[in-house]
Amino acid sequence: MTPRELMAEAEKARRSSYSPYSRFAVGAALLTRSGRVVHGCNVENASFGLACCAERTAVFKAVSEGERDFVAIAVTAGPRQGSAPCGACRQVLHEFAPRLPVYFRDARGRVVRRSLKTLLADAFRLRRKAARP
Ligand code: THU
Repeated sequence: MTPRELMAEAEKARRSSYSPYSRFAVGAALLTRSGRVVHGCNVENASFGLACCAERTAVFKAVSEGERDFVAIAVTAGPRQGSAPCGACRQVLHEFAPRLPVYFRDARGRVVRRSLKTLLADAFRLRRKAARP
C-alpha cells in the first residue's frame, strides 16, 4: 500500500468523525504488518476532556483485535488542513511502534512523512515486568 493510498483510507475514516463540539473532523488509517488497514476517527463528548483522537481510536481498535505490529499511519483533518498528531497520540503510537512512519499534512496542506522517533524525541518508557510464576 502506498502512502497516497493510506491517506485516502484516512480520508474515508474521517467521514465517521463524531465532532459536534469542535467541528474538527479527523481520520486515521493504521497499516498493520498483516496487511490490514484499521480506521480511526475522533470521538468527542459533551464532557470535553473525554474526547478520543482519531489516531488513538485506530490504535485501540487494532490492539483490541489482536493487531500490535504496525507499519505506518496516515492522519488527516481534510485536504487543505494541517494536522500533526497530538502529543498524547505520539506517546500511544510509541508504545507499539517507536519508529513508525507517520503521514500527515503540514500547514500548507502538503503531505509530509515523519518518523515517530523524530516526532517524539526522548519518549517516556517503562520497563516491562516479568509475569509472576
Ligand atoms: N484530534 C485528533 O483526532 N487527533 C489529533 O492528533 C489532534 C486532535 C481531535 C480531538 C478533537 O476531537 C479535535 O481534534 C479538536 O481538538
